[in-house]
Amino acid sequence: MIKVAICGAFGRMGTTIAGIVNKDPDMQLVGGVDVQEGELFGAPVVPAEKFASLLAEKKPDIVIDFTVAAASVQNIPVAAAAGCSIILGTTGLTTEQRKVIDDAIAKAKVSAVISSNYSIGMNILWLLIREAAKRLGDYDIEVTEAHHRYKKDAPSGTAKTILEILQQEVGPREEVYGREGMKERGNEIGVHVIRGGDIVGDHEVMFASNFETVSLSHRAYDRGVFAEGAVRATKWVIGKKPGIYGMKDVLGL
Ligand SMILES: NC(=O)c1ccc[n+]([C@@H]2O[C@H](COP(=O)([O-])OP(=O)(O)OC[C@H]3O[C@@H](n4cnc5c(N)ncnc54)[C@H](O)[C@@H]3O)[C@@H](O)[C@H]2O)c1
Repeated sequence: MIKVAICGAFGRMGTTIAGIVNKDPDMQLVGGVDVQEGELFGAPVVPAEKFASLLAEKKPDIVIDFTVAAASVQNIPVAAAAGCSIILGTTGLTTEQRKVIDDAIAKAKVSAVISSNYSIGMNILWLLIREAAKRLGDYDIEVTEAHHRYKKDAPSGTAKTILEILQQEVGPREEVYGREGMKERGNEIGVHVIRGGDIVGDHEVMFASNFETVSLSHRAYDRGVFAEGAVRATKWVIGKKPGIYGMKDVLGL
């Protein structure tokens, strides 16, 4: 039985993951953290200042974090120090925040999966984007992403991963975030962010040349796709050697 605690338990991702864990005969939701105290599927949810005592009492094998960067950077070191494996899905971390988390995981010698996107489809799309970029490096490249009106970080973590892949294959290129006014297109990658309604997550990379465009895109219809991926990563990472893995390791890509 895998004992799970969720940071951001009352959030969109937290509740979706809790629902899957609750139905899984091999997993048990033992607690959660959120800004408000409460209960989720009978498990206690506590504020961050009571997280360490929740860990000591419930002894989860793994902590799954889908919160905000400022919360992850506080909660992950506490979870790692308690010997828990980690699944981190929160996006929008600064380089410094990511380093704090990486150092805490290394110091505690626990296993962790960190990914900006837990869907299988997006992980495959990242491979396809890399292949396309290797061959279409002289094309103009534009990245577009769209999310629901409540998403705070922009561009999305997934779009940042796409940009990293593109920069590795065709860079360095200037990243131009939206355009306005009079300016010729340079040796750049255009990045466009849409926020509205309840869009779960759309990403597209367009390679454009004279007479043709190639578009690679992914659309998530339900955040269950990320939650299922996070649960798959949870089952995979338990018992793995200490270190930080990605979804490509989980999926054997
Ligand atoms: N990696 C992926 O596949 C993936 C997929 C979807 C969303 N995300 C990311 O996951 C994060 C959460 O997304 P969401 O849509 O569930 O957001 P959300 O706003 O619905 O949920 C976040 C939850 O975290 C809680 N929270 C805030 N501060 C906290 C603290 N200090 N301690 C504990 N909990 C705290 C909030 O109260 C809220 O309930 C975002 O960064 C988002 O970009 C990642």
